[in-house]
Amino acid sequence: MRIVVVGSGYVGLVAGACFADLGHEVVLVDNDEQKLAALKSGAVPIHEKFLPELLARHSSKRLTFSSDLAEAVHSSSTVFITVGTPPTEQGEADLSYVESVARGVAGAINGYKVVIEKSTVPVYTSAWIRTVMLRNGAAPESFDVASNPEFLREGTAVTDFLYPDRVVLGADHERCASLLRQIYEPMASGSYYRRQDAIPQPDRAHIPPRMIVTSAKSAELIKHASNAFLAMKISFINAVASICESVGADVQQVCQGIGSDTRIGTRFLSPGIGYGGSCFPKDLTAFRAVARECGYDFRLLDEVISINEEQRQRFVRKVRSALWTLKGKRLGVLGLAFKGGTDDIRDYEAAAGADALLILTEWHEFSTLDLDLLHSQLKYPIIIDGRNLYDPEDMMAGGFTYYSIGRQPAVPESHIATIMSTKNAGDVRFMGRKVVDGISAS
Ligand code: UGA
Repeated sequence: MRIVVVGSGYVGLVAGACFADLGHEVVLVDNDEQKLAALKSGAVPIHEKFLPELLARHSSKRLTFSSDLAEAVHSSSTVFITVGTPPTEQGEADLSYVESVARGVAGAINGYKVVIEKSTVPVYTSAWIRTVMLRNGAAPESFDVASNPEFLREGTAVTDFLYPDRVVLGADHERCASLLRQIYEPMASGSYYRRQDAIPQPDRAHIPPRMIVTSAKSAELIKHASNAFLAMKISFINAVASICESVGADVQQVCQGIGSDTRIGTRFLSPGIGYGGSCFPKDLTAFRAVARECGYDFRLLDEVISINEEQRQRFVRKVRSALWTLKGKRLGVLGLAFKGGTDDIRDYEAAAGADALLILTEWHEFSTLDLDLLHSQLKYPIIIDGRNLYDPEDMMAGGFTYYSIGRQPAVPESHIATIMSTKNAGDVRFMGRKVVDGISAS
């Protein structure tokens, strides 16, 4: 099939490359000429596994790039909208880019088209796209609007796209539902997965993935509700982690215990410094705004958001309780500087001469650091791990004072006097760890 994808951001670029790998002819449209020129010259603008391979395989063949929306629409019956929906100051999704694409498509209609939203949008967006297109001269029977939300995660976007748990096809009419089914046919029939050159299958892949056909409105809600639910799981376990810290329990053991119930599951139950990224924070506030507009006061989402914010504050307090005063101290941070490739990390520059090291993201590279080298680089061997990447006992054995989330701090005996002299020593509990035997009594 010939497919137009409008917007070459994260979702658009990955979807376009993956559609091409499924065997379709894809035109990726963007109004950013610089970006298009870079893509045409073979540049890969985002760091995403397998994306360079797919772009090399299909660019200038089944995948082409253009700034001419009208021409692209003329030659295709399916148009995916993957433009940005950034948050407004009020927290709602800004749909002006979506509207402008809808206007553009309406002006270029020359036969039956299906316009498919793939950007994360609030419920009713498909109805608004239809209204905008009608207002701009598109005949009612000349198009349908569908919703096909994307569930890919940054970092594993290509495999998430090609090996999803499910594909949601939100279509209100059979004609457009069958077009959507045709697009995903190589996945639904399993033919893609039998190909020698298919992108390698990840663990836990559902093959073939479930195809779920719903109304457009249900599909829109599935996207927002999925992200809200995942964020809720994270805030829930972070709240439990705080209780673990107070009572001396180990949140990792608690996670294992509750996650083993298949109704709950262990995924998205990793405690940390709270969820971030470009999706959950924006989608939670947007979903909250959608609910309010529909007359429902979704207070549960407020709580998810506020636990998430509090989690960061707790982490900062933890840093203070490890270091006492912060003014003038140098903190190495693993997690902010990371952008492209792993070589930067392996240099350990962040640790050199630092008073303490903070771990803020769960990159695999951060969980396999050379601990002896790290110990020699840090001014004081103190690690405050916001992702629970290490075992506290191991860190203590390696001579580190180690703080993590939902577990007791691990403090080698030689460091205990330092800790007890800190202003916030009251925040540090010593229950249940052999290193601190006797300390609670002193
Ligand atoms: C998220 C969803 O997982 C995707 O399904 C969705 O398509 C995407 O948003 C989107 O709407 O575009 P993403 O933001 O790329 O994907 O990354 P995640 O892996 O979901 O992580 C989000 C945040 O939650 C990160 O800060 C991560 O560290 C945190 N997290 C995740 C936890 O703190 N604990 C966990 O157990 C899992």
